[in-house]
Amino acid sequence: MNYRVHITRPLPQIAVDLLEEAGYQVTVPNDDGLPSRDELLNSVKDARGILSILTEKIDKEVLEAAPDLKVVSNMAVGYDNIDVEAATSRGVAICNTPGVLTDTTADFTWALLMAVARRVVESDNYVREGRFQWWGPRLLMGTDVYGKTLGIIGYGKIGQAVARRARGFEMEVLYSGSTAPETSEWGRKVSQEELLERSDFVSLHVPYRRSTHHLIGAEQLNRMKKSAYLINTARGPVVDENALISALKNGDIAGAGLDVFEDEPKVHPGLCELDNVVLAPHLGSATVATRERMAAMAARNLIAVLEGKEPLSVVNPAVLR
Ligand code: GLV
Repeated sequence: MNYRVHITRPLPQIAVDLLEEAGYQVTVPNDDGLPSRDELLNSVKDARGILSILTEKIDKEVLEAAPDLKVVSNMAVGYDNIDVEAATSRGVAICNTPGVLTDTTADFTWALLMAVARRVVESDNYVREGRFQWWGPRLLMGTDVYGKTLGIIGYGKIGQAVARRARGFEMEVLYSGSTAPETSEWGRKVSQEELLERSDFVSLHVPYRRSTHHLIGAEQLNRMKKSAYLINTARGPVVDENALISALKNGDIAGAGLDVFEDEPKVHPGLCELDNVVLAPHLGSATVATRERMAAMAARNLIAVLEGKEPLSVVNPAVLR
């Protein structure tokens, strides 16, 4: 069973070790950079499994280039980079890594929220630029976080982990979402409209789908308080970036913390000009321990499918029956 498994980008060694121990021949590029489309298409030709990263578009063309393929195991909870319908129709299982990155991503959501509310990045620049001459009673004043209202759109594992953390800040938590539970220990379910109107911080935790494209656009931003902040650690295209930039420039909302972008990795130049925005290069799950857990889970999912066993998480279970 010397099947080949292709890993699309270098990732924690544990994934390679697990796959090799299971008897697979593993190929992985040496370079951290994005593989070109041709490189990707060539490298999957005789692969039985692909361990992919969210930057690789796994569409019909890639699936067709790999006629022996049985599984694409994405090292991410989101799988909007994969054409699941095309994979399902070819009998290819799609796996993802929910659970292992929940708390790490919730922590980072709070890092962005705190950073933008208390102007941490502006303060860091101020000190580094040698501008700190005296303590000033009006210097770099931010907004309080404790005791405020936090609105969470999308109340799955990560949304709930963000809500749990709000308790320490004595916040009221509102949440919304079509699949959100009716009740929760950490918050109260409301309509999205009420959430937008009442929240001081709005944090997005929905997956990206056709139905969540531009879930937050001009109309929703207009509903928010002028003093409110938008935090996005979900997926860029959930927010209409042009509408967001206008809202930030016009003072329709107070600021934003963004870990994801509409046309990633391109960042709209309009965002980079604004002081009331904190930007990060899609780091939600980026800790050493969590990336190791994700890599191991992705490898285990892939091995399980190839061995005819139940993977820990499969997106299209029908193909395994
Ligand atoms: C990261 O964005 C993920 O989906 O895991």
